[in-house]
Amino acid sequence: MNRRRFLQISGFSLAATSALWSCQTSSRQRSSSDGRPIAKYGRARDQSLRIACIGVGGRGLDNLNELLAECDAGPQPQFVEISALCDVDLNMLDIAATRIPNAKRYRDFRLLYRDIQSGAIEIDAVVISTPDHTHAFATAMALACGLPVYCEKPLTHTVAEARTIAAMARAAKVPTQMGTQIHAGNNYRTVVELIRSGAIGEVSFADCWDNRSWCCGQLTPSALVPASLDWDLWQGPTLPSAYIKDIAPANWRRYWKYGSGTLGDMACHILDLPFWALGLGEQNGLRAEIGADGPAVDSVGCPASLEVSWALKWPSRIAGKDPLILRWFDGGKVSPTVQELSAKDKQNYARFNTLFQGSKGFLLSNYDEHLILPGALAEKVVAPVPTLTRPAGHHLEWINAVRAWTMDLPTNFAMTGSNFQYASRLTELVLCGAVAYRSQGSITYDFESGVISGTNAKRATELMTAPSRDGWALDPNSLFLDANGLKIR
Ligand SMILES: NC(=O)c1ccc[n+]([C@@H]2O[C@H](COP(=O)([O-])OP(=O)(O)OC[C@H]3O[C@@H](n4cnc5c(N)ncnc54)[C@H](O)[C@@H]3O)[C@@H](O)[C@H]2O)c1
Repeated sequence: MNRRRFLQISGFSLAATSALWSCQTSSRQRSSSDGRPIAKYGRARDQSLRIACIGVGGRGLDNLNELLAECDAGPQPQFVEISALCDVDLNMLDIAATRIPNAKRYRDFRLLYRDIQSGAIEIDAVVISTPDHTHAFATAMALACGLPVYCEKPLTHTVAEARTIAAMARAAKVPTQMGTQIHAGNNYRTVVELIRSGAIGEVSFADCWDNRSWCCGQLTPSALVPASLDWDLWQGPTLPSAYIKDIAPANWRRYWKYGSGTLGDMACHILDLPFWALGLGEQNGLRAEIGADGPAVDSVGCPASLEVSWALKWPSRIAGKDPLILRWFDGGKVSPTVQELSAKDKQNYARFNTLFQGSKGFLLSNYDEHLILPGALAEKVVAPVPTLTRPAGHHLEWINAVRAWTMDLPTNFAMTGSNFQYASRLTELVLCGAVAYRSQGSITYDFESGVISGTNAKRATELMTAPSRDGWALDPNSLFLDANGLKIR
């Protein structure tokens, strides 16, 4: 961490700043003569980075293994150590502990952060792989402690949370990364370079699809909570309700209260490609008219299939041009353009998940490969000179940024591709699709102000947030207080 960062916090409210201070007065900070913390610690290149992993079953265990493997590989390995494991399910904690026996174990991440605050444990960075509804709170506590964070996709569960986390990350100035690991892969980078170099001409449409159907969550309140699971902690900030049979692992994706169906599960990976290639993360004054189509809205369960369209405009797009259209299809819905192309080549739908339509032709892509159509155009396209870096891994890209930060070397947001400034806007775009569907209206979302207008704007605005229970408001001033306003013990 740059030793001046404590004095330079900007772009965030005083309230947030005071919350940052509340965590930073831990024993791991050095103090200046007037008692203000001025520096973290300069860690040497050969000292291990101490990582805390929150959520260590499912994707959490994969993240732990991938992070260690990526750091071990290559000519100059990064030294990392998993110092803390946290999971609300004792079985998951036990499995992860067989891999990392010496890590300190926690069930409640608030107690992990309390120990970080008090200096009882030294942690350099946090990896968060819990279900979506706890991402924002766990991430906010890390940022308020001034710690770098890797958080799974979608960055948050609600649009409002994404905006809060973006503001906190801007203030904390620490290396961040959302868990969209395909972003670091070679194919996405090549496609971005091709699209930006005009290989298929000017792009007017991009369609993305995924055939999964994380849907139709049902309430089964009579089910018994598994003995290994702390259901109360699992629910985190959500309003408490009875345990739902088989909701964990993974099936929480079927419920609006904890996930956002297939859109929430997959769109941050797949829409990432057009969002990136078309520069949507960087456009000032971006606005989207959003429409959605699916089965009748259920207040509990996510839909079996969904189609969402975003008509995107921004001031620097030449006046008179049609909006850029981005579309999402899941649960068996198919883009008409892909249908047309697939009539000639049946592979196209099953093999790919993204289609760019340009003035000269098409580009189909999946995570690992792409295809330019028609063949005559593909033959003419010359591979563009690479303009983007090729990181050896998504976790490693973040770890390298964390390393630089702990060594007090200059760092910036751009050191990680899915940093929270980029990832929060992508998450907002995705989650606004769910908001449009659930509000049953056609809405316009202003990415600068976060304001929704259009039919049913009132309901849509309500859906940008989720009710939280006492002691779990995403307020930087009260993150470290329990429901009685007392410091979390
Ligand atoms: N990047 C990817 O390719 C990828 C793949 C799968 C999942 N994910 C994301 O990872 C996250 C987890 O998904 P999953 O499929 O592993 O879910 P899961 O339900 O299988 O596992 C979640 C784990 O977190 C634990 N957990 C739940 N609440 C917790 C809390 N408050 N504190 C600590 N631990 C808690 C659970 O006990 C479990 O071990 C989701 O956000 C999902 O979108 C990403």
